[in-house]
Amino acid sequence: MAEHRRALLAGLTGTVLEIGAGNGLDFGLCPATVTRVVAVEPEPRLRGLARTTATQTPVLIEVIGGPAECLSAADGAVDAVVASQ
Ligand SMILES: C[S@@+](CC[C@H](N)C(=O)[O-])C[C@H]1O[C@@H](n2cnc3c(N)ncnc32)[C@H](O)[C@@H]1O
Repeated sequence: MAEHRRALLAGLTGTVLEIGAGNGLDFGLCPATVTRVVAVEPEPRLRGLARTTATQTPVLIEVIGGPAECLSAADGAVDAVVASQ
């Protein structure tokens, strides 16, 4: 599955918004061209695991709570949006 995830993330650059990050499995698979990840995860236990994963990943990652529907972001605030299952 890691190769499928890498293929999903290949070519991304700059700031990436990840919807439903789960435990943060994708964080370490982002290419080096990704400089920042904003990860939204509504489930508290998974959000805690994602925050732990974030501390073990070289890219700057901010894990925030709440459903994606409640996000507010200005136009152009992110370079790509990712969702994986
Ligand atoms: C199948 S999991 C996938 C997790 C991760 N993306 C992965 O590939 O391992 C779906 C995730 O989406 C989250 N989720 C569900 N509804 C959501 C919503 N409205 N906004 C953001 N995330 C949501 C769930 O809490 C769960 O962590």
